[in-house]
Amino acid sequence: MNADETNHADVAEQSRKSCHVSVMSAEVVQWLEPVAGGVVFDGTFGGGGHSVLLARAASEHVGGGGRVLAVDRDPAAADVGLATIAGLPIDLFCGSYHQVDRILKAAEVEALDGVVLDLGLSSDQLEDRSRGFSFNGDGPLDLRFDPTRGRSAKEFLAQATEKEIADAIYQFGEERLSRRIAKQIVMRRQERKPVKTVAELVDICRRCVPRSKGHDIHPATRTFQALRILVNEELAILESALKVLPSRMRPGGRIAIISFHSLEDRIVKNAFRDDQRLEPLTRKPLRPSDEEVAVNPRSRSAKMRVAEIKRLVR
Ligand SMILES: C[S@@+](CC[C@H](N)C(=O)[O-])C[C@H]1O[C@@H](n2cnc3c(N)ncnc32)[C@H](O)[C@@H]1O
Repeated sequence: MNADETNHADVAEQSRKSCHVSVMSAEVVQWLEPVAGGVVFDGTFGGGGHSVLLARAASEHVGGGGRVLAVDRDPAAADVGLATIAGLPIDLFCGSYHQVDRILKAAEVEALDGVVLDLGLSSDQLEDRSRGFSFNGDGPLDLRFDPTRGRSAKEFLAQATEKEIADAIYQFGEERLSRRIAKQIVMRRQERKPVKTVAELVDICRRCVPRSKGHDIHPATRTFQALRILVNEELAILESALKVLPSRMRPGGRIAIISFHSLEDRIVKNAFRDDQRLEPLTRKPLRPSDEEVAVNPRSRSAKMRVAEIKRLVR
């Protein structure tokens, strides 16, 4: 299948129960080149768009027998996904993509031919007010991909020191005004009005972060990004997965990673450059087409990098 044969309408049709529109899906299928009988690992199932296209490509277009192992950390995504994968050669698991060994064992698969990671959050998660991901609304400040495990953002803000909060917002959000925001958060705690909701945190960010000229990102963007990365340990999980995945792949297999901010992209770029097992195939990251960005504005910050597992040199 080439890039032109995959279109966004296909993805929307297959993911009927999800409102997420997959990003750079034609490029994912094109670069992973699913092979007959091959096994592709979709580590971020989300609405299932990439999994469905890869399963179709592996089973219909290249001789059949291919299979997709898909995983999502969000139990809600895995639940909704069961309807999406019906009748397709996709095994869907709930868990984190860095636990690839657990998934390979459960699926009785020895090695992978392709891997895709489409990082960040899905539109389904963004739309669900009970999760706290969107700052255009209100709801509990949770921000966990898996709300059944770990500590929510609200709990972190209730327990951490002012310095820990400021450091997290600076490190994971690259927010220059992190100290000012952390101070306000801790002041509310001292007044026995701890920050518990999206609207309360947005209000603090609005008061601490002035809108700058020609720079129209929302004042809460960086703070929410930071807290989400922190509570989900997103960067540590990505680093850990990048260490293990190449060893679980066949020579010639490809790994494609789509990231949405510079912290993630830097980790991917450095790992692809420094890992002796990998040959980077994209010197510069691939970007979505203008046409895709017009249809799906959420894709505008996507950057995709692809690497191949080196073949043995005799
Ligand atoms: C951008 S969406 C993926 C969309 C998907 N590629 C599609 O085409 O519909 C990212 C998904 O990754 C999941 N996720 C984030 N971190 C994860 C992790 N460590 N392990 C597994 N899934 C994760 C999120 O829960 C979310 O559903």
